[in-house]
Amino acid sequence: MLSVVPRPVVVRAPSKVNLHLAVGDLRDDGYHELNTVFQALSLSDTVSVVPAETLSVTVRGEDARVVPTDSSNLVWQAAELLAAESGRRPDVEIAIDKGIPVAGGMAGGSADAAATLVGLNALWQLDLSREELDGFAAKLGSDVPFSLHGGTAVGTGRGERLLPVLSRSTFHWVLALAKGGLSTPTVFRELDRLRADGNPPRLGGPEDLMHALTTGDAATLAPLLGNDLQSAALSLNPGLRRTLRAGVAAGALAGIVSGSGPTCAFLCAEADAAVRVSAELAGAGVCRTVRVASGPVPGARIINDAAEG
Ligand code: C5P
Repeated sequence: MLSVVPRPVVVRAPSKVNLHLAVGDLRDDGYHELNTVFQALSLSDTVSVVPAETLSVTVRGEDARVVPTDSSNLVWQAAELLAAESGRRPDVEIAIDKGIPVAGGMAGGSADAAATLVGLNALWQLDLSREELDGFAAKLGSDVPFSLHGGTAVGTGRGERLLPVLSRSTFHWVLALAKGGLSTPTVFRELDRLRADGNPPRLGGPEDLMHALTTGDAATLAPLLGNDLQSAALSLNPGLRRTLRAGVAAGALAGIVSGSGPTCAFLCAEADAAVRVSAELAGAGVCRTVRVASGPVPGARIINDAAEG
């Protein structure tokens, strides 16, 4: 008898940096109203899904040992959500290969969740529309819809309501990965505390930044990058100030904390400059490791097909 070994569906999902992250006041539901511009970056995770006896999660790569493999992992929740919706058991093996730093402010967990939605939609032949997948993504987390979409987009609400933005060219980034991570809720709480204590400056709207994106010029974009969470991330991890200074001293056009941090993202004039900045930053002893990335890139995508064979 011929036995058919199921082939995994393999999905790649991007990381993100917030080019502009304006944080409003705390809402009654515990979230903050955001006005943000996301850009998807080439630093990515790969997630494969394959039928199995029971639901399981394995993780390898960057910081794998600190990633949970139980129901607290968003990929587990994504599988249970899609299984419940489609009236089946979530019996799949989900294997995550991490390139995105864990708890790094780059939406690594959201990328994995988005990849799982895309992978299971294909594996189980659910034929869910983009809108349906968006709905599941928003249930899983504020950044998951963007991880599905990729590109460059404005996010409002808690970050889940997206509008694509025209971005003319590829931008080159250096990412300084920190030792350890920062918890997103802790960073939001620290911002609330800083705001209760004083009146840290707040970003306005992203109009100038959006205009700079249409020019495609990194030098025009650089001074407009901004992140209201940066003061909170620096308050929790003051060493990041040195990292930010070192990136600019190494030749980056600008440096910001990525999302809730602690990863620092440096915009560079071109690809060669990014390689030079990354080498210098790696030698400066101000971070755990460095990566070069570019953006915008597409959202979660199948990179092999489950087609028979
Ligand atoms: O949506 P997600 O589960 O990724 O959010 C994690 C936490 O980050 C929330 O529980 C909340 O504390 C904080 N958060 C927030 N405002 C947002 C998004 C996230 O306060 N817009």
